Amino acid sequence: MRNVALIVAAGKGERAGGGVPKQFAHLGGKAIVAHAVDAFANHPAIDAIYVVIAAGQEAALADALDGRTIDAAVTGGAERQDSVHAGLNALAGAGGADTVLIHDAARPFLSSEVIDRLLAALSETAGAVPSLPVVDTLARAADGLGETVDRTSLMRIQTPQAFHFDVILNAHQNWSGPPATDDAQMLRAFDENVALVLGDPMLDKITHPTDFALAESQIVPALISRTGMGYDVHRLERGKELWLGGVQIPHEMGLSGHSDADVALHAITDALLGAIGEGDIGSHFPPSDPQWKGAASHRFVEHAKSLISSRGGIIDHVDLTIICEAPKIGPHRTAMRYAIANMLQLDEDAISIKATTTERLGFTGRGEGIAAQAVATVRVATLRTVRTSA
Ligand code: CTP
Ligand code: MG
Repeated sequence: MRNVALIVAAGKGERAGGGVPKQFAHLGGKAIVAHAVDAFANHPAIDAIYVVIAAGQEAALADALDGRTIDAAVTGGAERQDSVHAGLNALAGAGGADTVLIHDAARPFLSSEVIDRLLAALSETAGAVPSLPVVDTLARAADGLGETVDRTSLMRIQTPQAFHFDVILNAHQNWSGPPATDDAQMLRAFDENVALVLGDPMLDKITHPTDFALAESQIVPALISRTGMGYDVHRLERGKELWLGGVQIPHEMGLSGHSDADVALHAITDALLGAIGEGDIGSHFPPSDPQWKGAASHRFVEHAKSLISSRGGIIDHVDLTIICEAPKIGPHRTAMRYAIANMLQLDEDAISIKATTTERLGFTGRGEGIAAQAVATVRVATLRTVRTSA
């Protein structure tokens, strides 16, 4: 089975207003048409995505897609029906499909469950549409309030609308009725059965300016928790300053390295970078780069923190272990905790500092170097829509 998504995005969005046609406006940091593209791209049963745009909107589409790939961009027409027809013709020219899901770009929040329901229904009928009951009282508009219309026999019809490709192509090619606002009504006019599957209030179309704010309010940043770990070692040498955890400690030896060699802050930096999958300290601050010679390591920690913040992330906790025989860490623990909390703009209770020896074993036991390891727990933002049930 070859299932193709056909997204119509060639309208002017006149009722919605704004500087650009509504399908290119942004919601939750991405263009409305990109939400629809992602919904299909993330569904395993969809094999190709066609997008229909108005003439001259190629650059606007490329901007909106922001690196996403689609299978074809097709030029649409004056009415929605013309745009769908152009898309179907382009698809026919490229070998056709078994089924096509025709969708309004202006309905950004499409769930995989709706796609599943539509595809399942197509085993019985030539077409399937998502529908919802009407909940408001309906009345005819007259001079004042006209007569009430019985809503129990009425449905709201949404998109995507799914069809056997040849049947819907035929309906478009042989249509002689007035302009149709959706495709299912064309199929019905040719006496084909169209199944109703459960729609989704989240699929409501963005039509008027106030719909943007409503849609925006349905997107909330969801924070997911991530853990990163970091580990570092530096050699102890005579005649060097000793910096540990952002604090200078009086000692007969200090750590050597390209920067100030604060092994504790390096482990914390790597833990923070690890939590967001951003490589390691060496990839951000190459030791070969002279600008980091003698650098104070709090800059590395602050850089990692800013990368997390720029993604809407939050650092919850950092747990540091320093491994050495000397100096004794206990007397400096409070100062380190304060310094690190300051760098990360966290309360001190979000910073844990522990120390251990290695029972005089190994390089730390012989006093040749100091090791540090850290674990960072952060929460990072992902965008998710608030789902409401039908
Ligand atoms: N559409 C289209 N080609 C047209 C008209 C509409 O592809 N000639 C698309 C729109 O881009 C939208 C969907 O059909 O995704 C539903 O149409 P509608 O909500 O009416 O959008 P617009 O026509 O853009 O808005 P308006 O009618 O307010 O100008
Ligand atoms: Mg329109």
